[in-house]
Amino acid sequence: MTEEQYFRPTKAIIDLEAIRQNVRHLKAHIQPNVRIIAVVKANAYGHGDVAVAGAALEAGATMLAVATADEALHIRKHYPHVGILVLGATPVHFAPYAAAQRITLTVFSTEWIEAAAPYVKAAAQPLQLHIKVDSGMGRIGVRTLQELRAVEEAITAQRNMEIDGIFTHFATADEEDASLFTKQVQIFTSFVDALAVRPPCVHASNTAAALIKDQKLQFDAVRYGISLYGLAPSSYVASMDPFELQPALSLQTELVHVKQIEVGDSVGYGATFVATESCWIGTLPIGYADGMIRKLGGQEVLIDGQRMPLVGRICMDQCMVLLTKKYPVGEPVQLIGKQGTEQVTLDEWAARLQTINYEVPCNFTNRIPRFYK
Ligand SMILES: Cc1ncc(COP(=O)(O)O)c(C=O)c1O
Repeated sequence: MTEEQYFRPTKAIIDLEAIRQNVRHLKAHIQPNVRIIAVVKANAYGHGDVAVAGAALEAGATMLAVATADEALHIRKHYPHVGILVLGATPVHFAPYAAAQRITLTVFSTEWIEAAAPYVKAAAQPLQLHIKVDSGMGRIGVRTLQELRAVEEAITAQRNMEIDGIFTHFATADEEDASLFTKQVQIFTSFVDALAVRPPCVHASNTAAALIKDQKLQFDAVRYGISLYGLAPSSYVASMDPFELQPALSLQTELVHVKQIEVGDSVGYGATFVATESCWIGTLPIGYADGMIRKLGGQEVLIDGQRMPLVGRICMDQCMVLLTKKYPVGEPVQLIGKQGTEQVTLDEWAARLQTINYEVPCNFTNRIPRFYK
């Protein structure tokens, strides 16, 4: 989409140079022989999967990871040759598509392998698989050595399936208390050692583990997600960050209406804001249908380099801001990002929403176009 084809001033700007810069720093941080798997699931955490994948690959990532079969097919259209790993569970009938398009799937049950086998019997190339170990996350994966061996044997018995990797996911790598993390490391290491053949790609670390834990846990590859986008997984990791991450996303709009209201006049559904003095109110063309949910009421935005609060309830498509003075229609409004010396961060939104920064850009709907610089 070009800016000319889009008529609403609300847009997200994704700084691809920030993404490249983050990847360069993240690469310098790991051992030289360790590969970077760029996690671009959920439309690259809401940033736009195709553009982010391109920037990450240019800067040193060598493989991409997504959550679903459909995300993998979308990426494959744009990147015909790069390795793509689907991290989640996949329906067996996707197996022939995965084999044909060289998409690597995650497996953790003999039932899946046996059910998928007929689908890939006639495939021109073997289906590549990574075995998932549930070492403590409690989500998907083999949980016992017996299950692991059965999965390994079931795959090895299939002519058209290959074990390319084994991996696990840490539940608490971003927290100070390392007890579960240490247990997960022990379990995963013992599972890798129990395989009859060590596959070429052993991986475990997400951003937090790769940034602050022992380098040995980088194995053959690390899976960087949130850090690609310039965000830290938690305040604990942020406090130990070995380098500064550069946030890639900013969100902006413009004032579409400005008016003066008088004492007793109210603003928005439920009339929750009532003027106690004469004041200027601006209207912004963004609302909860864009992902700016009602819980963000009271959040400050940047206008003319100053913080000004949203007032009244956020509507589906619009919200209102209390201005410090009269501003013209068309005045730029920064919802996330920098204006002058002020900055509103995704972390600030996450704190107001009592959630994590991961969730915030994932919630921006398709109605907000992403533009790239
Ligand atoms: C299996 C798996 N690996 C890696 C990641 C990336 O984690 P992070 O974004 O914390 O780097 C995720 C993200 O949720 C994941 O689910």
